[in-house]
This record gives sequence, C-alpha cells and structure tokens, in this order.
Amino acid sequence: MRESELPAESGSPVRAYNEWDPLEEVIVGIVDNAHFPPWDVATGAPLSPQQRAVFRDRAGQPFPADEIARARDELDQFVAVLEGEGVKVRRPEPRDHGQTYGAPGWTSTGLYDAMPRDLLLVVGDDIIEAPMAWRSRHHAASAYRPLLKEYFRQGARWSSPPKPELPDELYVDGWTDQPDGEPFRPVITEFEPTFDAADFIRCGRDIFAQRSHVTNAIGIEWVRRHLGDEYTVHEVQLDDDHPMHIDASLMPLAPGKLLIHPDRVPEVPEIFKDWEVRTAPRPVIPDGHPLYMTSKWINMNVLMIAEDKMVVEAQDEPMRRLAESWGMQAIPCPFRWFNTFGGSFHCATADVRRTGTLQSYF
Ligand code: ARG
Repeated sequence: MRESELPAESGSPVRAYNEWDPLEEVIVGIVDNAHFPPWDVATGAPLSPQQRAVFRDRAGQPFPADEIARARDELDQFVAVLEGEGVKVRRPEPRDHGQTYGAPGWTSTGLYDAMPRDLLLVVGDDIIEAPMAWRSRHHAASAYRPLLKEYFRQGARWSSPPKPELPDELYVDGWTDQPDGEPFRPVITEFEPTFDAADFIRCGRDIFAQRSHVTNAIGIEWVRRHLGDEYTVHEVQLDDDHPMHIDASLMPLAPGKLLIHPDRVPEVPEIFKDWEVRTAPRPVIPDGHPLYMTSKWINMNVLMIAEDKMVVEAQDEPMRRLAESWGMQAIPCPFRWFNTFGGSFHCATADVRRTGTLQSYF
C-alpha cells in the first residue's frame, strides 16, 4: 500500500453514536430525477389508501418537475443552514432513476436518492448499507458509493449485509391491510434479512428498532449480531397502521429528552423511565399540500445539530415553540416541498460524524 492509501492516523472519518452529539459532517440527499416506482403490493403497504392510488396511477413516471424544483431549492437552503453552523455537507451525484434493472425473477426502475437516512446506518465508525426490501431501492447504495469508498480509504469500517434477492417469496402473497384495531400485518416475510436504516434510532449503547413493512425480524437480528456485545438493539412495539421508518414516531432528541408521536407510542418503553417524554405538537401542514409517502407527522422528523440545537421547518411554529420551551435553539428552514417526497430533515440526512464517544444514557 502506498502511504496515501493508508488510513488516516487520526482515525475514522465516520463516527456517530447517537442523534444529538455536535454534528461535524453529514450527507444530504437530492431529489433530482425522482420517479414513482413500479406498482407492487410491497410499495403500497406502508402508504395510506389515497397515497396508494397515486402511486398506482403514476407508477414509473417522474415526480412533477415543479415539485422537484421546489424541493431542490429547499435542500440547497438546508445545506446553507448546515454549512452556516460549521457542518461539512456532502451530496450524491444525480442518477437516472428511470432505468430498468433487475435480478432473476423481477425487474424494476428506481425511486430517488433523497433520503440517505433510509439507507445508511452509522454506528460508531461503521457505515452499514441497509438491505432494502423495496425492489425500487435495490441499488440505493450506488449513489453513495463514491463517498463510502472515500470514507473506507480514510479508515472507516464499511459493512453490507447479505445482498437481498427480493424474490416473490419475500412478499406475502395476497397481502391485505389488517382489520381496524388489529396489529399491523407485515407485507414482507422472513425469507431473508431486510431492513431500512431509518427503522433504527441510536442512543449510544442502546439502539431502538421497529419491525415494519420493510424491516423484518431477521433483519433486526442481523444488525444485533453484527454490532455485537457493545450495543443492545431493542425491538420496540409501536402502534403504527402502516409502519415504515421509526423517525416520525420515536425521536430521542438529547440525553433525557424523548419526542413521541401522540398515538403511535401506546407505552413508552420502560428503559426511558428517567427521561422526559413530550408529545409532538399537531402538524400545521395544510390538507391540500401534496404528501406522497408520509403522514403529516413528518413534522417531528427534526435534525439535531447538537443537543441544544434543532433544525425545524420554517412554518412550523408549534415545533419551534416546543424546541425553545425545552431549552433548545430552533433554526428554521423551509422544507415543506421536501416533505412532499416523504421525509423531513432527519430522513434527508445521514450523520457521518458527530463529536462524542460511546456512552450509555440509561
Ligand atoms: N412513515 C412515517 C409517516 O408516515 C414517515 C417516516 C419517514 N422517515 C424516513 N426516514 N423516510 O409518518
């Protein structure tokens, strides 16, 4: 190995143990070329009935160009906010999501590279590529490969679970929603490990995960075994009719401060008993605003730049007040058109590095 290829002596450029230590470097997604994926039952399961109808009608088509332009502009403002706070921001290069690809038994086109949080799970110096259950996200990691290689060369660990095959057996044949009031019925089976990184949320040595329409039990078990004895992966039972991604349900914001969805957390896990728990304020997103793949509770999908500094949606007064009443500075940034694509500040990012060490908060 030549000298320049050796890992930097200062250690890994990837290092983050929780959601709140001071943010040093972050990946922010892009909405360019976003496409509705081909229609299948697995894509529909985490969506509301109205959203399913739109996905079915527009399958394979690009998202509306004007909405892409507005969301792109908001992302650029978000990047400026982060850079203004001294955070180093990295972005993927645009790709063509209309291209067809496949594997034995299936073909698909892509979705977007808007939500690095869905794909990349950073735990300590390890950056893990999630084995995503949606065929339209099978090559999601490609967008970030240049960065992943760079981080690896500089000393990060880089992991990828067994590449899922995503055959028909992974999806429940003839799946339908659970009857009202019953626990959710996953659309995926236990055929092979699949998970989205956004079904995990980190509090140092304790990591919380939910099973969802994209994360199965064997997927959570893969993460648990991969991380080993230094970490405890807790599976939490939430009450979400269409679960996909934990970060609009259970958001640890700082040591001792947990933000929860008012209905989806029927019982706060016992381990949080010494934490102050607050309910997210009602979303202020108006009914007419397009939200293709998220509920309005995306308002609670905030990003912590430090344990006393939160990025909040510019029009979200109630969330700003909540932050301030909890001793946090609220930094406003317009993001409603990004919300249209299914996420907010937490989804749109993947922490690369936060100052801090591995600790227990319970
Ligand atoms: N499923 C959540 C909701 O509809 C949205 C979660 C978005 N999170 C993400 N990482 N993309 O409220």
